[in-house]
Amino acid sequence: MATGRPVENPETDFSEEAKWVLPGPLGGHDWQAMAFDEAKGIVYMPAQDFPFIYSLNAEFKETGYFKRNPGTTNLGIDVENSSILAEEMAAEAPEAKGYLKAFNPLTGEELWSVDHVHYWNGGVLASAGGLVFQGDGLGYLSAFDADTGEKMWSFNTYISMLAPPITYQVDGVQYVAILAGTGAVENFVGLVTTETAAVKYGNFGKLLVFKLGGNLALEEPRILDRSIPEQPVMMASAEQLLRGEQQYNLVCGGCHGANARSAGILPDLRMMGDGKHQIFAEIVRGGVLAAGGMASFADVVSVQDTENIRQYIISRANIDREEAQQVDAAAGR
Ligand code: HEC
Repeated sequence: MATGRPVENPETDFSEEAKWVLPGPLGGHDWQAMAFDEAKGIVYMPAQDFPFIYSLNAEFKETGYFKRNPGTTNLGIDVENSSILAEEMAAEAPEAKGYLKAFNPLTGEELWSVDHVHYWNGGVLASAGGLVFQGDGLGYLSAFDADTGEKMWSFNTYISMLAPPITYQVDGVQYVAILAGTGAVENFVGLVTTETAAVKYGNFGKLLVFKLGGNLALEEPRILDRSIPEQPVMMASAEQLLRGEQQYNLVCGGCHGANARSAGILPDLRMMGDGKHQIFAEIVRGGVLAAGGMASFADVVSVQDTENIRQYIISRANIDREEAQQVDAAAGR
């Protein structure tokens, strides 16, 4: 209070060594809309515990200067080695969790909190009728009692949700509408559970509108086959694989997911078949999929690094494929 300077927490000081920090950059609370009940003075918030590993970029640490790399992730932290650090320090990693919370912003008092399965969920709508509506990552749109948090209603949309529902009235009939579908920074993370609707069914947008006595019926979409195909032969030295992993983290991971695991929104590169492997360089440096949002990275990754990244993806895919096969074998499948 005397100086206005932040009070630093020594436990999360990462200037010497890597530290898990909670909350990480996704919060706390991210940009999903919260709701405010003015009469009650209560905020309903899509909240999350999202940990992140912080470590200084080696050159920055040594020299005090951070060299900007145009076209890549520039945070002054060690993005290149983030996946390696996260694995080394996995035992200490705080759990990622999602909640719907009701709290009083003047006192900071929490009235109730509902746990979600996944940490990344949708925005919130609070109605004058005493209900709080929220869509979640698993695809359920639910209504909660505004005073207690008790779940009053739930509907499986089969679509992971990010936007808040809205409500409106026409000719005395009240409607609740939700623009279902997900996206945004969840991609960065790779804390992917196979339970999210985006991973299970794919991520597609739909406008859904509800009213009392409505009789909407949705069929469960086809569950996507997310099994990893057999990979091309890996031909890379340990150094090349490490370089591929670092370049992947720096340039590709923000969209295609940490550890090459997609959150179900962009293509999962572990799923590529032979055809895609054959034109990998044309995609990454040649920009042949630019119209679909995959720009050319010719100005960012060299020919050799493009191949290093491909080899890293193969190695990641092999690890995950083997793990999945062991799980299947243990379950007698
Ligand atoms: C800004 C986001 C973004 C970044 C960063 C990015 N990609 Fe992509 N990538 C996309 C999108 C979007 C697609 C889907 C394009 C389409 O379907 O036409 C895609 C598709 C691909 C595909 C085709 C996969 C398939 O199965 O169809 C490959 C291969 C690929 N990206 C590799 C990479 C590599 C390697 C990097 C890093 C050098 C990278 N991408 C970085 C957005 C990104």
